[in-house]
Amino acid sequence: MSTFYITTPIYYVNDLPHIGHAYTTLLADVLARYHRMLGDETFFLTGTDEHGQKVQEAAQARGVSEQVHVDETVQRFQELWAKLEITNDDFVRTTQERHTRVVQEVLQDLLDRDEIYKAEYDGWYDVKSETFVTEKDLDLAEGQSPDELPHIKRIKEANYFFRMGKYQQWLIDYIKEHPGFIQPDFRRNETLGFLENQALTDLCISRPKTRLSWGIELPFDADYVTYVWFDALVNYISVPGYRRDEETFNRWWPAEYHLIGKDILTTHTVYWPTMLKAMGVPLPKTVFAHGWWLSGKDKMSKSDGNVVNPMDYIEAFGVDPFRYFLMAEMALGQDASFTHENFVKRYNADLANDLGNLGSRVLKMIKANCGGRIPEVPADALAGAEEKALWAATQAAVSKMEETLEAMRLDLGINEVLTAVRACNKYLEQRAPWKQAKEDDKTPLYQTMYTAAEVLRVVSSLLYPVMPTKMRELRVALGLDDAAPDIEHARQWGVLVPGTEIGPPGILFPRHVEEKKQEPPKQEKNVENTEGVQDMSTITLDDFTRIELKTAEVLTAERIEDTEKLLKLQVKVGEETRQLVAGIALHYAAEDLPGRKIVIVANLKPRKVFGVMSEGMLLAARLGDRLRLVTVDGEQESGARVG
Ligand code: MSP
Repeated sequence: MSTFYITTPIYYVNDLPHIGHAYTTLLADVLARYHRMLGDETFFLTGTDEHGQKVQEAAQARGVSEQVHVDETVQRFQELWAKLEITNDDFVRTTQERHTRVVQEVLQDLLDRDEIYKAEYDGWYDVKSETFVTEKDLDLAEGQSPDELPHIKRIKEANYFFRMGKYQQWLIDYIKEHPGFIQPDFRRNETLGFLENQALTDLCISRPKTRLSWGIELPFDADYVTYVWFDALVNYISVPGYRRDEETFNRWWPAEYHLIGKDILTTHTVYWPTMLKAMGVPLPKTVFAHGWWLSGKDKMSKSDGNVVNPMDYIEAFGVDPFRYFLMAEMALGQDASFTHENFVKRYNADLANDLGNLGSRVLKMIKANCGGRIPEVPADALAGAEEKALWAATQAAVSKMEETLEAMRLDLGINEVLTAVRACNKYLEQRAPWKQAKEDDKTPLYQTMYTAAEVLRVVSSLLYPVMPTKMRELRVALGLDDAAPDIEHARQWGVLVPGTEIGPPGILFPRHVEEKKQEPPKQEKNVENTEGVQDMSTITLDDFTRIELKTAEVLTAERIEDTEKLLKLQVKVGEETRQLVAGIALHYAAEDLPGRKIVIVANLKPRKVFGVMSEGMLLAARLGDRLRLVTVDGEQESGARVG
């Protein structure tokens, strides 16, 4: 039995999980599920990256300890993964002792073998990305000095360095000799270009505690913590047992895939391989970098308010359609565009129409005309030309799935499965079983229905890793057991057992009809007002209930650049996270807000304020110069209705 170890990046725990995080994790989940179906022993690891400056700052702003802060924020990821039915075998948090201990051992070992040394650093530091930078890294105008950029500081301090530079030529040779190591090919060329066009410098792997204390302490110098990337990357080996359990470690390592987004290519294809080389550990087989999800044509960014929240789609369409869309829509490696229109279009076309229709047609026909049982299969069922062609299309989908799984182009595999689905719908139209049902000789009818049911069975196996819940439902309805399918069976004809009772033909994917855009509420004329001027002194209860007031919890707050009064808040409203712009900066400091329970108008039309999207409005009481937030008396969950 072969083993299959797959990882996702570990996510910064401070971020709210969005579609980008969901995508990498889902992709890993789908691949892990396929490999389990192939009979591989599979280990799928994801987790959170919990150290660093931003966590420290957020915790301080909330007035809680860093540990309390990360213990709370990690739940957002764990909840989303549970919702998305992610089948990770482990979840690593870099604050766990099983990880920190290994990082410290690695550091000590590298110091002992002179792979790490201490030196004075005098250069530029990017406060935003928490990295040391050279002038070349910065997009400077002619004659501009780096410290003219607001986030760049000159820093002079002693630090510890990893001798990364000495591995430059070795790494170039390794990448050239192992074309599978960085995928897709154009990403390999990107890393090679980076390595061949400049001298690789040593990597600063420490931060003095005077600047940052939330990190793994260096085992040989208590005045420093470990640079967050040097800590985070080690998770890939600390969890499967490096330096703790040799046998387990050797079973899983080297990993088959590190899945990453294109934004973290250098850390994974330059830092990580040189670190492993220095440790004497073999390299992972493939680092695969996927592209970005864009919002239409634009980069998703919190400040533009165009970040897609997976929860919105899961709630509106269910988990499986969301999983399906992400897998089918992105050509692996390339960027892909997420728009609501595309989502609805694909949902209705592929799922409601093609697959959903096929499912309910087949089940309904069997229910109505074959006594609700899988019909007898005629001995020569596959002899007909139409049956042969349809079965060939189905088997082409099986082969394509196998091929594209290897080539990391699942979108193409899924496409081929849908081609088989469409071929089966066409086959039913040609054979017209509703007419065959009226004949005395039921053999042609049974041949049609058995063939279509077999195609549906194969389709349900191929799409099982992508849509586990819906495909399980379909399989149970076809009279199969509810265990994950065995991929071997997808190659075989005649697996469905005649006489087996089928389940009720439910609707797998109800067609999605967009709700009509709400008309702006008509203003009622006040009949007593004879001059026709609207009377603002009273409103009806109806008017009031149109305003949705809800409790919300402030997660983060920051000042909007170039404004005096505006703060940008991320607030939690029940399951949902929203962004609000509020003109309260003269009355509240941003760092005092996280954790507060406020009241917001939740159904206000989203609008941009100073170019920043605001999805609601908070309530405050103002008299003269004094402004105070409206809050709730005592404990109440966020998302509670106020009124
Ligand atoms: N903590 C580091 C990774 C350490 S791994 C040892 C990190 N975390 S992150 O929270 O910023 O998540 C990064 C990953 O999220 C990206 O590599 C990518 O997988 C995913 N994405 C974030 N935004 C994305 C899109 N808009 N589209 C697709 N994926 C992107 O970096």
